[in-house]
Amino acid sequence: MLNSYIKGIAFFVPDKVLTNDDLSKLMDTSDEWIKSRTGIHQRHTVGDNQLGPSDLAVEATKKLFDKINYDKSDIDFVVFATSTPDYFVPGSGSIFQEKMGLDNIGVLDIRQGCAGFVYALTVADKFIKSNTYKNILVIGAEVQTTQLDFDDEGRGTAVLFGDGAAACLLTGTESKKGILSTHLHTDGRFIKELGTEYPSSKFKDIITENDVRERKHHIHMNGREVFKHAVRRFPEVILEGLEYNNISLDDVGIVIPHQANYRITKAVQKQLGVGDEKVFSNIHNYGNTTAASIGIALSEALEQDKIKKDDIVILVAFGAGFYWGSIVIKW
Ligand code: ACO
Repeated sequence: MLNSYIKGIAFFVPDKVLTNDDLSKLMDTSDEWIKSRTGIHQRHTVGDNQLGPSDLAVEATKKLFDKINYDKSDIDFVVFATSTPDYFVPGSGSIFQEKMGLDNIGVLDIRQGCAGFVYALTVADKFIKSNTYKNILVIGAEVQTTQLDFDDEGRGTAVLFGDGAAACLLTGTESKKGILSTHLHTDGRFIKELGTEYPSSKFKDIITENDVRERKHHIHMNGREVFKHAVRRFPEVILEGLEYNNISLDDVGIVIPHQANYRITKAVQKQLGVGDEKVFSNIHNYGNTTAASIGIALSEALEQDKIKKDDIVILVAFGAGFYWGSIVIKW
């Protein structure tokens, strides 16, 4: 059986930066409030450029191919994770495929919110381990800033999110390195705590002017409830991965968590007794980029030489759904 390993990863964020001070001109908030509650200093935005996640994913993929000197004709399959698709129907995968000229290969769309990258990598890993495909492009891409409620009513969520994309090449190998385990979970009882309900096929015309006036097309979140579940599920699923592989936290080189909120990361570290040197964080520069955040963080961690050959790396995510999961990798 082949193993799967990450042959390369790259990311792209739009040039335009929205600082906390910029946000405080749009709504009743402050740099101090945002930094102290979330750790976020700024986020990147597509602004008015009418770019979707497929466009950001194209840029990230071009960077990846340049970085590893790769020819797109070697790609067998694509898994595309986003919670903010270009279209209501179909998913962004086919739009991305056409823009990249990846003729006729299969593309799978993943809609698992902040856990999207972990779910996408997991699916790709299984396709490789079952000998179905050998080279799979895994995308996490998100355009959040166009759907946020940049008004006083939306300030609890609008300050959190940013735009960006990561592109990762997962490849089969005969060696023992690569993805050692994946664990995925869902608890649909908490669907109301975090999400964007409209447009919805449940309702005639999917969304009306009145729904828009009532802001039903914006993401809503019960911040405290999300916090409570996140700080439980992150450690739980990290430990599940460690136990499965019969290793301990001492054996881990680095944890790359979904960049949800710096306070969530710190609370998880406290519970597990893990110091800052073992946990990567870049939320201060990008905010929460949902399905893209782990890919962006992993890419930066590699650029900063935080990961060495043979290190154990843990990717871990939690988000809307609630969906959560972890991946243990031997680098
Ligand atoms: N600026 C200023 N004040 C604000 C803002 C803001 N942007 N947002 C909310 N407030 C106010 C509230 O209105 C409230 O005012 P009140 O006391 O007069 O009613 C006060 O700040 C406290 O509000 P809380 O919601 O209780 O603030 P809390 O300290 O819980 O922090 C936060 C809010 C940061 C969202 C917190 O609940 C949290 O960290 N939740 C985790 C959710 C999260 O990080 N989600 C990320 C996306 S999901 C994911 O990736 C897993």
